[in-house]
Amino acid sequence: MKKFKRTLVTCALPYANGPIHIGHLAGVYVPADIYVSYLRLKGSDVKWICGSDEHGVPITIKARQEGVSPQDVVDKYHRIIKDSFSRFGISFDIYSRTTSPVHYETASAFFRKLYDNNEFIEKTTGQLYDEEAKQFLADRYVTGTCPHCGNEKAYGDQCEKCGSSLNATDLINPRSAISGSVPVMRDTKHWYLPLDKYEPFLRKWILDEHKEWKINVSGQCKSWLDQGLQPRAVSRDLNWGVPLPVDGNEGKVLYVWFDAPIGYISATRELTPDWEKYWKDPETRLIHFIGKDNIVFHCIIFPAMLKAEGSYILPDNVPANEFLNLEGDKISTSRNWAVWLHEYLADFPDKEDVLRYVLTANMPETKDNDFTWKDFQARNNNELVAILGNFINRALVLTMKYTNGKVPVAGELNDFDRLTIAGMGEIKEKMEDAIENFRFRDALKEFMNLARLGNKYLADTEPWILIKTDPARVNTILYIALQITANLALASEPFLPFSSRKIRQFLNFDLFNWADIGRSDLLKPGHQINDPELLFEKIEDDAIEAQVNKLLATRQANEKPKAAPQKDIISFDDFTKLDIRTGTILEAEKVPKTTKLLKLKIDTGIDVRTVVSGIAEYFTPEQVIGRQVSILVNLEPRKIKNIDSQGMILMAEDSNGELVFVQPEKVTVNGSLIK
Ligand code: MF3
Ligand code: ZN
Repeated sequence: MKKFKRTLVTCALPYANGPIHIGHLAGVYVPADIYVSYLRLKGSDVKWICGSDEHGVPITIKARQEGVSPQDVVDKYHRIIKDSFSRFGISFDIYSRTTSPVHYETASAFFRKLYDNNEFIEKTTGQLYDEEAKQFLADRYVTGTCPHCGNEKAYGDQCEKCGSSLNATDLINPRSAISGSVPVMRDTKHWYLPLDKYEPFLRKWILDEHKEWKINVSGQCKSWLDQGLQPRAVSRDLNWGVPLPVDGNEGKVLYVWFDAPIGYISATRELTPDWEKYWKDPETRLIHFIGKDNIVFHCIIFPAMLKAEGSYILPDNVPANEFLNLEGDKISTSRNWAVWLHEYLADFPDKEDVLRYVLTANMPETKDNDFTWKDFQARNNNELVAILGNFINRALVLTMKYTNGKVPVAGELNDFDRLTIAGMGEIKEKMEDAIENFRFRDALKEFMNLARLGNKYLADTEPWILIKTDPARVNTILYIALQITANLALASEPFLPFSSRKIRQFLNFDLFNWADIGRSDLLKPGHQINDPELLFEKIEDDAIEAQVNKLLATRQANEKPKAAPQKDIISFDDFTKLDIRTGTILEAEKVPKTTKLLKLKIDTGIDVRTVVSGIAEYFTPEQVIGRQVSILVNLEPRKIKNIDSQGMILMAEDSNGELVFVQPEKVTVNGSLIK
């Protein structure tokens, strides 16, 4: 393997359009945190970059739904996300954001350099346009059928079912996500990165020069390369994003997947004046931690951008994970099927490491994996409490009891002592091999084997029995048990940083270097340790039941017919334009040769008028005569089956999809305004 001088680690920038959940942690941020903490413990030169992805359509859609500005949305979620990360000990060197001034400058300059070097193709083409919303529709503003797999809910940028990256105009039967209308084609000018030009280079770089990449990553790349790469637009007609740095750029911004990965570079610039060393020196090893839905962007599109720019290094590895499911179902923000980190922190205070442990043990490294609350409880009680916590507690309590908390002097070591000490060194090597090859589940297993080694050592040597007959031998045993504890303090740091800190406090110990793992002289004879506390506590059934019940309630709520999403915000003036009032149905008859229509005569208080209403499937004429209803009277008159219809009766749908009247609670004077 090539020798590098330093490492630059990036993690996918989460969209600042909602809080983050366990799937984010397990897929991207916990593995990266283990990796970076390990490198730091080894004293390597490493920088770890992340931040919020604050542009793109998901954010403007959220803003529209909440009736606030996109800036309000990103300000709110940037804070929440940043706080969740820091509380879980996710120890980025910087957590920045793509609305920062440095980012605008860096992303514009990057685009401009490619533009000036004629790396883009300039094209005017028909794009989807929503005539109702008066807006071009790109990316998530359009849904339709995926041309590759037939998924009817594919987005204009990507199909989440088959993972294909798409252009909005590829979709079959496109629909606007804003108004639901069928979009029309309208001409607009955009800039395209000719990905096809980079295909030979990408093929060689990924498939020949990086055979060590994870099979799920190179497999996806190969399938894209085999499908043939197309030029890809890197600008958009939107009013939220980095303004396009070219003349005549009105209403145009950089495509979010063009600006976001440049966010890694901007954040590094913000972190250190030395940033170019990390991005331009071939002796830097660049590693992108991402989820599987981001593979195409990090292995094909961003590398093509970097290659086109010319002065940057390319990633050496992209250890993408698969997805974490929750209790057998795909995690989903829209269905609220998730364990949100801020909620977990409220429900399980001081148990950050427990979640980190369970997510690492179930990390979706090679396939999708499942998180269940039962497994969470079992791993806490049977592994953290019964193996790790138990060993540390026994070692420390015995020391308090037999030597008043002083590290004893060891006597001569026997074969079993030497074997145990050698075992620590072997475990260290296995952990290293696993972490360096992004096999974090294996690394965690090896770490737990270190605690198992300690338990076995105490169980086999039985100091609590020997104390009566051979106190000198007990000193040796305690000495070794304490060295194993110190080893655990070091080795736990990447996986369980909060517990590592606690063990170091118990031991009154501050040596902190990965290379020291395996040593049996970390604590010197005579060194005083502190009173220990329990490292982990049992999680009882009721706490787990509460979580399971919360999910059951969500599942039930999801099974109920879903309310339509809120429509666009309107002004009060818009509302007062509607003239809705009470009226009484005086006459009713079926419209001949139709099944759905009734012709009604209604006293509106202003006049008596005719309205044709589509309620005949639910009501007979007799059932409606004499009923007081709500009627929109200033609706433009329409001819229905040759009858002039002058208004509309307001109806609601019940849970069976049948129509019911929206009636005043009490009979009112006809013509009373509804306001
Ligand atoms: N916001 C994207 C997502 O959540 C990830 C962006 S990664 C970056 O899928 F490289 F673009 F920054
Ligand atoms: Zn598809």
